[in-house]
Order: sequence, then C-alpha cells, then structure tokens
Amino acid sequence: MARHTVGLVGGGQVARAHVIGFGNIPLFYGPERTADVVMVAEATDDLASTSAKRFGIPRWTSDWHALVGDPRVEIVDVLTPTYLHKEPAIEAMEKGKAVICEKPLAAKESDAREMYEVARRTGARTLVGFNYRRVPAVTLAKRMIEDGKVGKVQHVRSHFMEDWGGPGFPLTWRFRSSQAGAGALADLGSHSLDMVRYLAGEPTEVCGIAANFVPTRSLPGQSERLPSDVDDVSVVMLRVAGGAVAEVSASWVSPGRKVQLDFEVQGSEGTLYFTMERPNELNYYSARDPKGEQGFRQVYFGPAHQYGSSLIFGTPTMGTGYVDSMVNQMNDFLGCVEAGQECSPSFADGWRVSRLISAILESSSKKSWVSVG
Ligand SMILES: NC(=O)c1ccc[n+]([C@@H]2O[C@H](COP(=O)([O-])OP(=O)(O)OC[C@H]3O[C@@H](n4cnc5c(N)ncnc54)[C@H](O)[C@@H]3O)[C@@H](O)[C@H]2O)c1
Repeated sequence: MARHTVGLVGGGQVARAHVIGFGNIPLFYGPERTADVVMVAEATDDLASTSAKRFGIPRWTSDWHALVGDPRVEIVDVLTPTYLHKEPAIEAMEKGKAVICEKPLAAKESDAREMYEVARRTGARTLVGFNYRRVPAVTLAKRMIEDGKVGKVQHVRSHFMEDWGGPGFPLTWRFRSSQAGAGALADLGSHSLDMVRYLAGEPTEVCGIAANFVPTRSLPGQSERLPSDVDDVSVVMLRVAGGAVAEVSASWVSPGRKVQLDFEVQGSEGTLYFTMERPNELNYYSARDPKGEQGFRQVYFGPAHQYGSSLIFGTPTMGTGYVDSMVNQMNDFLGCVEAGQECSPSFADGWRVSRLISAILESSSKKSWVSVG
C-alpha cells in the first residue's frame, strides 16, 4: 500500500484536472496506491482559500515556499502560469522532492534547460504534463509503430487546433510572450511537438511561421485594447533524426475545431491516424492487407489495451477522455516514484520541447531553417 501526499502550486484551471487525476487513482487502479492533495499555494490568501474549498484541500497558503518546504508534502505539482514554473520546481527538487510541472516547462528555453539540469544533478523524479501521451489510443499507436505495423516511419503530421482564442478572448498571461514564451505554439503546439518526438523521434531542424492575427486584446472586464505579441497560428516543418519528415501546426483561432489534437503517422507499410475529438479510436491502414480488403479500420480502445483495466465496463468505446489521461499520468508517475525510476516525459523532454519552440520562433523571425542542437 503506497500513500502519497501532493502539494499544488497554482490552483487555477488545470489544477482541477490534476486533483481529479490524483483522486481517482484508487477508483481506476485499486486501493493499493493513493495520492492525497494535502495543500495548495495560490497567489493571494483569497485565491488560496477559494481553491482549497473548491477542491476539498485541507490546507492552503499564499507563499509557495511554505508548501515546498512542508515535510508533509512529498510531491510538488507546479501549475502556475508558465513563467512562474521555474522557481518552485527548482526549490522543490533541491529539497529532494519529486516534481510534476505543467507544459511547456518554462517560458524561456534557458529556464527550461536550468530546470532539466537541476533535475539531472539532484536525481529528482520529474514529469512534464504532456498528458496526451497517456491517452490509450496514443500509447497503442506508439506500440504499433515499435512493432513495425507501419513499416519505416516517413511522414508525421500533428496539429493542435481549437477555436476559443479570437479577438473577444481577454488578454491573460497566455497572450504575452514574456509570460507564456509563445502563443498557440507554446500552449497547444507544445503537445504536438511532443507527439512528434514520442512517435517518430527527435527533430533536428525546423522551419516555421509564427503568425499573429489578433494584435490587441482587452484585459478581463475592460474595453481598452492592449498589445498581444504572440502567435495565434504557427505552422512548422521538421526534419526528424532517422530520416522522417514532420509537419506541426497550432492554432487557437480555428473555427469549428474544439480539441483537434491529431496525428497521422505514415510509414512505408501503413498509416495510423488519431484525433483527440474521438479519443476512443485509432485508425489503422495496412498496405500488407490483401489488395481487395484494404482500407482504414477503426481500433476501439478496450480492455485489451494499456490502461484498459481502468474501464468501468469492459466494453470497447465505453469511454476514455481527457480526465482519464490525467489519472493514467499520475498513476504512472507515482509508480516511477515508488520504483525509484525515471518517468517519461521528464524535464529532459520538457527542455527539448522548449528548445524546439525557441528554434521555431527564431526560424520564423529569420525566415530560414534552424538546426536544433
Ligand atoms: N496539460 C494540459 O492539458 C494543460 C491544460 C491547461 C493548462 N496547462 C498548463 O498549466 C499551467 C497553468 O495553466 P492554467 O490554465 O491552469 O492557468 P490559470 O491561469 O487558470 O491558473 C494558474 C493559477 O496560478 C496562480 N498563481 C499565479 N501566481 C502564483 C503564485 N505566485 N503562487 C501560486 N499560484 C500562483 C494563479 O492565480 C492561477 O489561479 C500553464 O503552464 C499551462 O500551459 C496544461
């Protein structure tokens, strides 16, 4: 029986998903492992007590140092706006704690690198929140690629498109490059870049366009419009080690697209297609099928797959989604902490994605290809 304790630094939007993730581990996977969220740190006393009440967390503080230093907190989960990830994550690792940090790891590539280096020096167990890796259809695609089901991977594309970020959406930290690092590319594209790395390998060269279509936005509740200096749409070409080529695009101004995190992996012998708008399905085409029987087949997530034991009824298509990926992510991470093993995606992965984002922005401003170390 493993009982873990977690402290949240940041109690906003994504904190809710993390609390649901930790809380459901025993319901999904059995009572042998629990993770109690015992404390939350927020920017002010008011926000902290409101978060604590909303999520049923017994203790709160407006000083994250107090949470990080509290001996009753074993795992520190950093959920602040991206420019505020570095300090609590580093302080927690220096204190010997395991650390989860949301994506992208930092707003600046140099900060992400520093976080990764502290993780390496301290040997801290780390996880960066690329939770879509733990959607069962995505894990299945990875296994099928490794098993040679599509042959040699040649062409990968991954998009992350949503439609909430038009001119009426207020100016929050996400729309300031100093706080978010980039716009749609950092917020959504970081997941797609991680997906390319996870499924096809490490990109070595990038060529991107980062475009701003909404140059001004209003602060919440105000009418004056102020500058927004981030990309609303980014489009990227990538060369991947091993020879594959990839395309990534990210947008929060794509009318009709809700959570269109998709990928298509085309190999010499077949193709895999997935979209998060239909998370229970993986589409597979095999060029090895007999000629008269060729066509895409839908593989439905069920008990035969990784994470399948979490299903309430053992019926394929009866349901997995965003929240389930959070439960799977937290459960896998705690398993690594218990075993004293590195978990994936770690801060090393987080830094590599930040390095790609920075190279893509450089490529866009120079209008040229940029090599990635
Ligand atoms: N993996 C995912 O699916 C996913 C989804 C959403 C957001 N995110 C990431 O999670 C992070 C947070 O995003 P969000 O949407 O929850 O943002 P948010 O603005 O809703 O929440 C951030 C919270 O941090 C709090 N905060 C600010 N300063 C603080 C401080 N000094 N100490 C403690 N708390 C402080 C804010 O008051 C706010 O409540 C970002 O890095 C974002 O990219 C990931």
